[in-house]
Amino acid sequence: MAVLPIRTVGDPVLRTPADPVETFDARLERLATDMIDTMYAAPGVGLAAPQVGVGLRIFVFDTQYDADDPTSERRPLVVVNPVLTPGPGVQDGPEGCLSVPGLYFPTPRTLAASVSGVDAAGSPVEYSGEGLLARCFQHEVDHLDGTLYLARLTGDDRRAAQAALRDGPVDPAEAEQAGRELRSLRRSG
Ligand code: NI
Repeated sequence: MAVLPIRTVGDPVLRTPADPVETFDARLERLATDMIDTMYAAPGVGLAAPQVGVGLRIFVFDTQYDADDPTSERRPLVVVNPVLTPGPGVQDGPEGCLSVPGLYFPTPRTLAASVSGVDAAGSPVEYSGEGLLARCFQHEVDHLDGTLYLARLTGDDRRAAQAALRDGPVDPAEAEQAGRELRSLRRSG
């Protein structure tokens, strides 16, 4: 088990499109395992390789796990070389990012989405969902394209995000509290 340091906004790796994975070996499996450990430790519902400083097209996710519920089961999934297919509908709920700690802004996304690709062993996988899961797919594939969710914000939310980033890093205790509040908001619907 290895929890890796998470790169934060301002780090060039987060603005750099990641390369397709071509070699499926023990190193890739280890990267996936470490990314899963890092995601749960944060805690977060998804994590893309550039966030741990690796420019490869791989992300991990688990939108069902509830970090505040000790009985919650972990079911981590890995997608390598994902192809995103946006579905119908729109949603505009709050979105956050482990690389932009403590901040959440309403972010327009499609309501449904699916991803296809392969797992860390190279076997084909495909996942579809709505709501938080669809938001997660769009957010993580954006990371692999070198795009942060901040770039998706519009109007006042965009201006608020720019102002918050100018104010500098959020206090870690405040960031944790904000994360807890967002998770409880999601549980209530
Ligand atoms: Ni993110």
